[in-house]
Amino acid sequence: MSLDFREVKLSEAQERLQGGDDFFLYYSSFLGGYTRDRLLMSVPIDDHIVHRGDGVFDNALCVNGNYYLLDQHIERFFFSANAIGIEPPFSTDDLKRLLIQLGIAAGRKDFIARFFVSRGHGSMSVYPHEAISPNLYVLIGKFSPAPERYFKTGLTAVTSPTKMHPPISPQVKSVDYLSNALMELSAKGNGADAAIGVDNSGNITEGSNKNVAVVGKDGILRIPPPEKILRGTTLARAMEMSPELVKKKVISGVRTENIPLPDAYNAAEILFFSTSFFCAPVVKYDGRTIGDGKPGKVWKAFHDLFNKDVKSNKKVLTPLEVTSIRQVPISKQNQNPNLIAKLKR
Ligand SMILES: Cc1ncc(COP(=O)(O)O)c(C=O)c1O
Repeated sequence: MSLDFREVKLSEAQERLQGGDDFFLYYSSFLGGYTRDRLLMSVPIDDHIVHRGDGVFDNALCVNGNYYLLDQHIERFFFSANAIGIEPPFSTDDLKRLLIQLGIAAGRKDFIARFFVSRGHGSMSVYPHEAISPNLYVLIGKFSPAPERYFKTGLTAVTSPTKMHPPISPQVKSVDYLSNALMELSAKGNGADAAIGVDNSGNITEGSNKNVAVVGKDGILRIPPPEKILRGTTLARAMEMSPELVKKKVISGVRTENIPLPDAYNAAEILFFSTSFFCAPVVKYDGRTIGDGKPGKVWKAFHDLFNKDVKSNKKVLTPLEVTSIRQVPISKQNQNPNLIAKLKR
């Protein structure tokens, strides 16, 4: 790259930015509406989300004209915002309506909606009170599915040397994903598909953009304690599905508890959960073969249930129709008073 010292012409920038067709539609409360023009798909540099990482985000998948688990993503978005003292100047219903309208306007049935709320624009300082008011940015973009081999042969993973989210709760989906990015760097450097975090006591936590669950040889599905991980919408849905798997004797039960690394190494199965692939099997972890080294029966059962869910379960689907616009229930738990109180102290 040469660091050219010259003034760029608008026409030149236009040419450079028009390339690619992955971004279908963009909304910015700063601009006051949506656009299809790639040149306008920008965030002001004095927005604190850019220069201080002061903001939160969430992503919701739309499959065949239906958002999957949309209320859950909106609920977590507000939880994250409130936890860092951002009070979005719009309601959960407003956001839901907008996401549906943007999906309709994009004229697509399959996409991912990435939405961000920032502290706001207004200064280049670290001081949140110098921001004018929170901004909402939404990108309706192309969704790239996980490679087929994840499901055919499974993923490999390594333990990440990077600890995640020291000062802020891992339950907050802040835009500061530096530690998550470094986890992926270590995975790549070790020739693995993914990295798994561990806490200070050597218990596994989660991946950079996915939750982790472990099935013991006793058939118990174990997940790390909620305060150590992001409350994944996919994992939460898997928990709702799990009684059916107990009934069918695919698993013998579910437990939320610390999972020491050796227990993960000796697992019958290790599972990843994420919006982008629902459930995926880990077949090798830190060089050790997990189970019989192939995607297992618990993974297969969840994989099938998720595929059915996203195709036909009206309870968790929001069609891209104006009639879908209804209230988003925000549970008391997710108003998160403890975290807010802690930050105000
Ligand atoms: C750190 C982290 N953990 C877990 C997840 C999985 O969450 P979800 O199932 O809602 O995609 C994500 C993805 O957003 C994440 O970034």
